Amino acid sequence: MKRSGFLRVVFLAGFLLILYPAQKLHADNGYDAWLRYAPLQGAERAKVAAFPSTLVVRGDSPLLETSQKELIRGLHGMLGRELRVEKELPKESAVILGTLADLNSLAPELHPPAELQADGYWLASERIHGHDCIIVAGATERGALYGVFALLRKIAFAEDLSHLQEMQTPANPIRWVNDWDNLDGRIERGYGGRSIFFENGAVRADLTRAGDYARLLASVGINGCVVNNVNANPRVLTPDFLPQLARIADAFRPWGVRLGISVDLSSPKSLGGLDTFDPIDSRVQLWWTEKAEEIYRLIPDFAGFLVKADSEGRPGPSSYGRTPADAANVVARALQPHNGIVMYRAFVYDHHLDWRNPKNDRARAAYDIFHPLDDKFDDNVIVQIKHGPIDFQVREPASPLLGGLEKTNEVIELQITQEYMGQQRHLCFLVPMWKETLDFDMHLHDRATPVKNIASGQVFRRALGGFAGVANVGLDTNWMGNPMAMANLYGFARLAWDPNLSSADISDEWTRLTFGNDPVVDRTIDSMLLSSWPTYENYTGQLGIGTLTDILGSHYGPGVESSERNGWGQWHRADHDGVGMDRSIATGTGYVGQYSPEVQKEFETLAATPDSLLLFFHHVPFTYRLKSGKTVIQHIYDSHYEGAERTHVFVRMWESLRNLVGDDERYEFVLKGLKYQEGHAIVWRDAVCNWFLRVSGIPDAKGRVGHYPKRIEAESMQLTGYAPVDVEPAENASGGKATTCQAPVSECSASFHFNGTDGTYQLNVQYFDQNNGKAKFRVLVGGRQLDEWIADDTLPNLKIGGDTSTRRQISKITLHHGDEIRIEGIPDDGELAAIDYVEIDPTSP
Ligand code: GCU
Repeated sequence: MKRSGFLRVVFLAGFLLILYPAQKLHADNGYDAWLRYAPLQGAERAKVAAFPSTLVVRGDSPLLETSQKELIRGLHGMLGRELRVEKELPKESAVILGTLADLNSLAPELHPPAELQADGYWLASERIHGHDCIIVAGATERGALYGVFALLRKIAFAEDLSHLQEMQTPANPIRWVNDWDNLDGRIERGYGGRSIFFENGAVRADLTRAGDYARLLASVGINGCVVNNVNANPRVLTPDFLPQLARIADAFRPWGVRLGISVDLSSPKSLGGLDTFDPIDSRVQLWWTEKAEEIYRLIPDFAGFLVKADSEGRPGPSSYGRTPADAANVVARALQPHNGIVMYRAFVYDHHLDWRNPKNDRARAAYDIFHPLDDKFDDNVIVQIKHGPIDFQVREPASPLLGGLEKTNEVIELQITQEYMGQQRHLCFLVPMWKETLDFDMHLHDRATPVKNIASGQVFRRALGGFAGVANVGLDTNWMGNPMAMANLYGFARLAWDPNLSSADISDEWTRLTFGNDPVVDRTIDSMLLSSWPTYENYTGQLGIGTLTDILGSHYGPGVESSERNGWGQWHRADHDGVGMDRSIATGTGYVGQYSPEVQKEFETLAATPDSLLLFFHHVPFTYRLKSGKTVIQHIYDSHYEGAERTHVFVRMWESLRNLVGDDERYEFVLKGLKYQEGHAIVWRDAVCNWFLRVSGIPDAKGRVGHYPKRIEAESMQLTGYAPVDVEPAENASGGKATTCQAPVSECSASFHFNGTDGTYQLNVQYFDQNNGKAKFRVLVGGRQLDEWIADDTLPNLKIGGDTSTRRQISKITLHHGDEIRIEGIPDDGELAAIDYVEIDPTSP
């Protein structure tokens, strides 16, 4: 190397070191999620410097082997230390890892906590034969593994281990995830790529990702995973598929995660050749019994079946006039001799409800169907209940069925994948939302009975209970399509372990494990996460009205009216006079009557109902004054503006971390996502506000809705090749129109002259990124090209509209009065290079 080149490298390296201290250069693509084991530095490292060098593992089993390897791996990563493994206590300090029985044989003088039970762990710093030792013990081997992960978290947080004394037992025996993977490799409501389990109708040959997923799950205490879609393909139960499933179980087993599968209740007929699947037919019972035997021969620790029946077109017991209990029990009896369980979903409702009948109410369905069956389910049946009575909307009350079963096991179903919550493209940390439901007091039998204690089985002394979370991870390197979405998987699991953890605790843990211990980073990301659900709610559906998304299509962008006048029952019943569903006992659907008398008092009257759920429970005029003092309509306008504004702040907050989290793939990915969200929040804001303006006829007191002085609509520009088209629904495009570039033209332009004063501006181009072709765009000012891009995103729609409307921000451009601003579009493969408008915003110099 020439001397000058060498000096340049030295200079550059020095410069980089100043910009990015060594510990920040840990590049990351999101694959390791919260298990990064990034090296601890300086003072943090010093705190755990006295960590022993010997690891004693007396027991011998696959799970203990996993535990041992994980501890070695974590310490290697974080402290750069190698542990020596022994079977006997050395004459020096050591880590002792094993079950209580192992511990007793090594150091009988120790007194582990008597309450330590299944899956629980004990971490302690004890003196044994004069040496400081760290104990990692589980009542079971799985508990020991959880103890290892808990210890590694403490090391990652640089906690002082010298007085370690902690015993933890999970609050819930069932801590499962559900993945809605189809056998062809697609994932229903999955936003992180294709299935890690299946491809082309078979289980993948390479299950490395399945094993790595199980490791992630185990690290936060998940003990079961249902791997296929609840809308189940009967083929999972065929003799040639079961051995393939056994391979997934093999990949899970070292991590203590048991395999479960979704089954189609009609399998005895569609697969087994019977002429019926009537649950009380003895041939059907025999078929399930033999099928279970076949499965357990291949997978001795098989966890059980998940059943979706009589729901959204799935076959079920109603075909024979039987009940969900009849159906659940026939399957349960087949699994019972093998200790298997059935998770029977309470998501059963009629999706052809007559919307004209004001007494009809989908929210009533689960309780109406399942509550009368409370004493009819076998002991190895667990009724799996979505947290709200509708379907994972941005805000729902706790499902009354959660308080409506006393003699039946139940689990609460939470949706980790962000189906109605921005599909992983929008930052939306769901733990605060889940906490509201978990902490909700059902006031059963005049006692404090929060949902979390009912679901766990504690309130009614049920042996089985817990959490099921719809995760839908995929083959994307970062698992869920966005590294930030992993906070929801982490948070779900932590709540399943301990629902008393606070949202702030969970956010802080996840942030530190994912991005390191820098207090500025942690404070900033915590603040983003903790405010992200209210933000999303603000610019989508407020006051308990529902997410207001397109419920007939993608469930992604705005579709305010899509829920009305159809059988799906997600109605908000907005018209010129008012908005909301009357679910009161006195005048409405009677849904409120499904809660205990105390809870009824919270929702039956307008006066008592909290603003946040007002429109879920009541129909009110737009001029109704909320407890906040605002009218409903003004609240709708204001909250949408506040929500969209906050997404702008998220971008700024994230940008402030550039040099602190590492300017790597992960940083750029998140930045791009937040900028996208900022643009899409404006699409949401405008669609919802304009729809309500049109329906209510009441203007925004602040004059914002319908007035966009910084905007130049594409249809009003000088168009060459481009032609205006109507967008449906109209509120999903500014002015109800877009301009498209259609054949035979192959290149179009839209231009106008800047009529503001000379200065520096931000130019926002609102265009449509359909998910077919890859249209190209160019922006020119005074004939000089300032920007160009390709619309190659894969948003969930082919159409021009609220799902595909996207914002390109071009910052800090100099404009002079009279400059020609021209957008050029080149369509591609059906994507029409469509433009909605341009907005010219003064930026700070
Ligand atoms: C939602 C979702 C479906 C899913 C269903 C369910 O309605 O959109 O894709 O099948 O929930 O939970 O069964």
